[in-house]
Amino acid sequence: MCSASVQPVLQLAGIDKQFAGNPVLSGVQLNLYPGEIHALMGQNGAGKSTLIKVLTGVLESSGGEMRLSGQLIRPDSPLAAQKLGISTVYQEVNLCPNLSVAENVFAGRYPRYGLSQGYRIDWGSVHRRARELLARIGLDIDVTQLLSSYPVAVQQLVAIARALGVESKVLILDEPTSSLDEDEVQKLFEVLRRLRGEGLAIVFGGGRPARQRAERACALAGKGPRPGRALASGGRERTCGRSAGLGGFAGGWAYRVGTLAVWPGIG
Ligand SMILES: Nc1ncnc2c1ncn2[C@@H]1O[C@H](COP(=O)(O)OP(=O)(O)OP(=O)(O)O)[C@@H](O)[C@H]1O
Ligand SMILES: [Mg+2]
Repeated sequence: MCSASVQPVLQLAGIDKQFAGNPVLSGVQLNLYPGEIHALMGQNGAGKSTLIKVLTGVLESSGGEMRLSGQLIRPDSPLAAQKLGISTVYQEVNLCPNLSVAENVFAGRYPRYGLSQGYRIDWGSVHRRARELLARIGLDIDVTQLLSSYPVAVQQLVAIARALGVESKVLILDEPTSSLDEDEVQKLFEVLRRLRGEGLAIVFGGGRPARQRAERACALAGKGPRPGRALASGGRERTCGRSAGLGGFAGGWAYRVGTLAVWPGIG
């Protein structure tokens, strides 16, 4: 949990985004702390994916600033964001099922050797380093097998291994649980808690199972005069649901977002 002595790893201040003049994000404020799992909440179309795209360099914001470890950043591509330490796994697992697990982990950035050999791919390194990366997230599988021979949940962990670099400070997942069953969600969270233990800040955009397991949440207002306005982010608290007018939610807890209690089943 964050405390006064822990500095946010990533700070968003006043982030705006318009599409053809229509505001989708308005003045989003968000602090992400190391070693914490943070959920982005909001109804369909509230701007969760747009915010993720802005902070991972897919889209340029229309206003506001981002700081990583206190330094102003303005990533202009996912690669630039990844080099800064912001890693992303998108909802659609964009890997190649007809390549091996190891090839998927290193596609486009294979370790190579030898000028005289024409910088050939160093397959020994590819396989060894793929095994090491997967071991980091607790996955022990045959990396020479086709990705398609493994279930979607394993493929998603491979996508996380691919996204993670040694310098990763922030890991962002957009709707990571939409195609997973309860056991697979459980396994995914074991991996994420392990990464959180290494000090990563982890962000989820949407996905009820993820929201219900996050420690902090930020809600984007989907409707009203200022769509995409971020309500303040807040921590998970036990609440007296019915007396707070939030009756019927499971577990008797909500995220305290500003002065509001936000039930993780909403949005
Ligand atoms: N490239 C784009 N051009 C124009 N409008 C866009 C673009 N991308 C998103 N939008 C609009 O911005 C709004 C926010 O979309 P976004 O996908 O960020 O919402 P979301 O919170 O991720 O929704 P969901 O829960 O359905 O994933 C929507 O009204 C969407 O139609
Ligand atoms: Mg989305």
